[in-house]
Amino acid sequence: MTKPVLLVKSGGEAAMPEWQRHFAILAPDLDVRWWDDATVDPAAVRYVLVWDPEPGRLGRLPKLEVIFGSGAGVDFIASDPDLPRHVPLVRMATPGAAQRMGEYVTWAALSLLKGARRIGMAQAARRWDYFEPEQTATDTTVGIMGLGHMGGAAARMLQGIGFTVIGWSRTPKEVPGVRSFVAAAERGAFLAMSDIVVCLLPATPETRGILSKPLLDGMKDGAALVNVGRGSQQRIEDILAALDSGKLSGAVLDVFEQEPLPPEHPAWAHPKLLVTSHLASLPPRSERVAYVAKLIAAHERGEKLPNTYDHDRGY
Ligand code: NAP
Ligand code: GLV
Repeated sequence: MTKPVLLVKSGGEAAMPEWQRHFAILAPDLDVRWWDDATVDPAAVRYVLVWDPEPGRLGRLPKLEVIFGSGAGVDFIASDPDLPRHVPLVRMATPGAAQRMGEYVTWAALSLLKGARRIGMAQAARRWDYFEPEQTATDTTVGIMGLGHMGGAAARMLQGIGFTVIGWSRTPKEVPGVRSFVAAAERGAFLAMSDIVVCLLPATPETRGILSKPLLDGMKDGAALVNVGRGSQQRIEDILAALDSGKLSGAVLDVFEQEPLPPEHPAWAHPKLLVTSHLASLPPRSERVAYVAKLIAAHERGEKLPNTYDHDRGY
């Protein structure tokens, strides 16, 4: 009997041997092939694991049963106008992804508190730059925009080292010790209380450009910003202007509208900005294969899939 085919487009063709090695151990009944393998019959494809499939391609797989997003955010898949909406689209929600995101956000908050950008610049210049960071975690409130899988994990870790944490989401949330602010009506109060604002929102029409001047103006004077959501959510010119004016005391940005961020972009050199290369939380391929293999087995037993994209909500 021919094996069901899983097509992969995540990390480029060079990543295929690694994907295939892990699937061979955890799901040996699958035929795992590169996305552009011309020898694959489209009618044999039952599953795909993808990050950014070309628009229209998924709609040409007539027997497709499940689309697995290779990240937590599936905006590069869901934006396909011809996406087959009857096929479940599963988001990558491994416990390791939330752990990694929590660690990154905690690192970013501590970096802002301790002046990591300043320290890095002084070291690069071999300059002894003694200074005393004033604030500690115990007198700092971190406001998390998007209190979901990632935001919840970040909240718990930040609380663990003494930060006060508040959250803003579309619907009310109950996370122990975290005051929940809801929707547009409570955004102003949430921002006014936050010393560090962390964006962990999904990319949707509502969140597009949300990190721009009106929101920055509503933040505390001298507050700081961390964006680990998506580049489409920020207006980088507004963030750089707020850093220059002192409205923002610092920022950590992991995501950008154009990735990779071009070498000539002014964000790289800004003295109050830490830039990272969209690396906040990417679980290893072995972990993502374990998640997908487990869910394919569940699907084949007729079970309902968890963490599916909701077309009406947009995440
Ligand atoms: P999630 O569990 O779906 O949580 C999303 C949160 O955002 C929820 O709390 C949701 O509110 C809230 N939200 C959505 N739209 C909103 C709106 N218009 N106003 C206010 N709140 C809104 O998603 P997740 O797994 O935590 O991931 C979040 C995002 O992080 C992903 O979509 C992705 O863009 C980004 N991400 C980035 C990296 C990286 O490496 N930089 C890695 C992983 C994920 P409700 O709770 O009320 O639904
Ligand atoms: C990474 O950005 C993800 O969405 O998992």
